[in-house]
Amino acid sequence: MEIVLSGIRSTGNLHLGNYFGAMQNFVKMQEENKCFFFIADYHSLTTHPTPENLLESTKQVLVEYLAVGIDPEKCTLYRQSDIPEITELYLLLNMNVYLGELERCTTFKDKARQQPNNINAGLLTYPVLMAADILIHRALKVPVGKDQEQHLEMTRNFATRFNRLYKVDYFPEPTAYNFGKDLIKIPGLDGSGKMGKSEGNAINLADEPEVIRKKVMKAVTDSGPTSPNQEMADSIKNLFTILKVVSTPETVNYFNEKYNDCSIRYGDFKKQLAEDIISVTTPIREKIIELKSNNEYLRKVISMGAEKARESASKTIKEVREIIGFKSF
Ligand code: TRP
Repeated sequence: MEIVLSGIRSTGNLHLGNYFGAMQNFVKMQEENKCFFFIADYHSLTTHPTPENLLESTKQVLVEYLAVGIDPEKCTLYRQSDIPEITELYLLLNMNVYLGELERCTTFKDKARQQPNNINAGLLTYPVLMAADILIHRALKVPVGKDQEQHLEMTRNFATRFNRLYKVDYFPEPTAYNFGKDLIKIPGLDGSGKMGKSEGNAINLADEPEVIRKKVMKAVTDSGPTSPNQEMADSIKNLFTILKVVSTPETVNYFNEKYNDCSIRYGDFKKQLAEDIISVTTPIREKIIELKSNNEYLRKVISMGAEKARESASKTIKEVREIIGFKSF
């Protein structure tokens, strides 16, 4: 049983790629590990959301995670801003982090380029807050994508630096947890390799059926096969990859044969694909809507999460304060 921790960006909706990818693994992971899942709402302040947006997007993330099967009884599901211990650890870690290494961080450089008029200190120290998120529970495994590996490496540096400075063996070195071949990759609808929010090629779990139909009908295809058993273009392969996860094997075979004997009509193919996607997303969308209107339940979930997370966080902070030398008279 390992301590696994994942931070969730509080912007954006879960899409089909998340659902068949990381989410399935999260749902499994919570059975076998001590899992902490949290919504990183402090981090989102680096882009200055309005108070309404901050609450709305946090709530959206919460209901979507619950809707796909994250179970607040099995894991610790919480909101970052409910855990003051994280900010304290962030402050303490900051004293031992250097300007040069923060400026060299690629995500900082990217962000600084994207928002040149708002290069705030929170953006610069983003990796320190992320390290505090992880180290506050002394987590060992952190499921993150490639874009977050550098942050994780910085976390390891801060952890070992702390241990060295205070001659302790306190913080473990967390490592990235990528699900390897367990991770199903869902391609985008634009012929590209990966479905992603920023790529603008995604079908969101909360999308209405009409929206899904429109998105699928617009998906990139080619001019169609001209000879039997012709090699598929990537865009067509992608649509088949999606079909395979949402449809029955019979349906997949049917369209495969149609492709191979050149009688496929992409219009029909897409219609079927859209309907089968809708069958998968509809129960989730309905659950999202139901949860959203059940504020009492959400309040219960979030307060239970805060309580469980603070139990672990306050233990760490108490020990860290001792190590640093904040002792009682
Ligand atoms: N930086 C992560 C992202 O953009 C979100 C995050 C914040 C996170 N704190 C974390 C992820 C701690 C893992 C662990 O996706």
